[in-house]
Amino acid sequence: MSNIERYRPYFTKDYLMGPNSFRLLDELIRRRPEGVCFERTLDLGCGFALTSLFIANETDAKQVFAFDLWISATENYLRIRDKGLEDRIIPIHGDANDMPFAKGYFDTIISVDAYHYFGCKEGVFAEKILPYVKNGGSVMIAVPGLREQPQGQMKQLFETWAEGDDSELFKTAAWWEKLLKDECGDRCRVEVKEAECYDIAWQEWFRSGHEYGARDKSFLDRGLYDILNFLLIYVSKG
Ligand SMILES: C[S@@+](CC[C@H](N)C(=O)[O-])C[C@H]1O[C@@H](n2cnc3c(N)ncnc32)[C@H](O)[C@@H]1O
Repeated sequence: MSNIERYRPYFTKDYLMGPNSFRLLDELIRRRPEGVCFERTLDLGCGFALTSLFIANETDAKQVFAFDLWISATENYLRIRDKGLEDRIIPIHGDANDMPFAKGYFDTIISVDAYHYFGCKEGVFAEKILPYVKNGGSVMIAVPGLREQPQGQMKQLFETWAEGDDSELFKTAAWWEKLLKDECGDRCRVEVKEAECYDIAWQEWFRSGHEYGARDKSFLDRGLYDILNFLLIYVSKG
């Protein structure tokens, strides 16, 4: 579908906020279930809105709402305008826990490397996210996760890397599947897959020149590489 090489100029410390989101998003879109409609899409936790740019260019989305907490709408608007996409990408500053949209508004909600920051708790998906998707719509999420629960020395290393509380944001595929199935009941179909771009997404992050990339590499090289993964989560509503 996409020509990911077009985005290579963004694979640097000035644009990447973690393991290469373009790779994750590209795979998330490619491996989607049949029937996903992108016409009105919310990019939830869009960061610098580069994932929104990718969605606008690589899908048939007519409108992409670029929604983020840490990055201001004005900063993202300038970047979007610079690309000539201000008629299709709408920047909004806000919190996923309290979204300013109409219920049933979106065909699809996409979230790349962001959902774990606010969505690892019971009630968030059912009460704060799913209501904004139309019946027949979709939620597609890519998050860093765990292949297995770390034990012993690996647990210590993992908690040092994730700086305490953040280690609680990394979950296994089975954990996410249970949470979302419990939240949705029989209203939705839930599918969780392990991403295949794991290695390249990390390597490109390490090569980006970002200081956090160098720190991550030192921990992954000591063994974390074998216990982490990226998860692609698909929820079809109705
Ligand atoms: C690692 S960045 C990823 C950004 C972008 N999706 C990408 O892949 O380049 C995580 C983003 O999640 C956003 N985020 C975290 N908590 C949020 C919340 N409660 N509501 C909205 N966005 C949130 C942050 O503002 C941040 O930009």
